Amino acid sequence: MDISPDVFSLSGKVALVTGGSRGIGKAIAVGLARFGADVVVTSRKLEELEEVAAEIKGLGRRSMAVATHVGRLEEIDRLVPQVKEEFGKIDILVNNAGTNPTMDQAIDIEERAWDSIMNLNLKGLFFISQAVARVMREQGGGNIIHVASVAGITPDILPVYSISKAGVIMAAKVMAQQWATYNIRVNALAPGLTRTRFSQALWDNEDILAGAMMLTPLRRVGEPEEMVGAAVFLASDASSYVTGHTLVVDGGSAI
Ligand SMILES: NC(=O)c1ccc[n+]([C@@H]2O[C@H](COP(=O)([O-])OP(=O)(O)OC[C@H]3O[C@@H](n4cnc5c(N)ncnc54)[C@H](OP(=O)(O)O)[C@@H]3O)[C@@H](O)[C@H]2O)c1
Repeated sequence: MDISPDVFSLSGKVALVTGGSRGIGKAIAVGLARFGADVVVTSRKLEELEEVAAEIKGLGRRSMAVATHVGRLEEIDRLVPQVKEEFGKIDILVNNAGTNPTMDQAIDIEERAWDSIMNLNLKGLFFISQAVARVMREQGGGNIIHVASVAGITPDILPVYSISKAGVIMAAKVMAQQWATYNIRVNALAPGLTRTRFSQALWDNEDILAGAMMLTPLRRVGEPEEMVGAAVFLASDASSYVTGHTLVVDGGSAI
């Protein structure tokens, strides 16, 4: 078996990236396109998404922006056939959309916050994976990446979010085990603290930032673009024998 730099190429592949309008999802969507993939981006708000789709088209790839709330199963049921119809197949799914609407600690957390986190981070992730895996099974294979978090490995100050991300890591393992027979690989990518709107309440707070940096050997917050290499590795044939794995990209914080 010959290995060449082409093993990282995503040329001819079609990718679907959830939460692709900004932050880590945007960086991964544009990154996959730079490595050759056509990329569909989805999130709730179309305006930001359209800008990302335009950026991808500017790289000479095909792209489409579709508004979808990934926590609503009827919207997933509309999205997946639409991508299949427009692009003919789905080779790569990046489950990046995630939420954490509260800084409450476990003693205070309310049912509404629990439901909102679990609905998107776990239930939506599960059912969009199922819908896309059915397409992948029919076409002979595919590749799914769940964006988890180091919070799913070691507990942090976001309690329900941590629980949800531990579930995301297990979802990658379960799906990897059950869907290998359809030639579908499933892995998780676990970022550490990364500079996005989602995590601004953490890296903008001096005390929280200082605490996080004490635990981070590289002593800095990650940038969304630093997730791209890991995503391309997992999405490409460079990782052809890797499935059910969680690739941690966190400056060493989870050591
Ligand atoms: N930033 C970090 O430090 C960090 C660390 C570890 C893991 N992560 C994970 O990385 C992923 C991306 O986070 P980020 O930091 O890049 O956040 P971000 O910049 O806030 O982006 C979140 C993305 O998800 C979309 N989104 C939110 N709710 C959605 C829903 N219900 N349905 C569909 N799309 C939805 C948002 O777009 P709309 O508002 O248009 O829906 C946006 O595109 C998340 O899963 C997060 O848990 C982040």
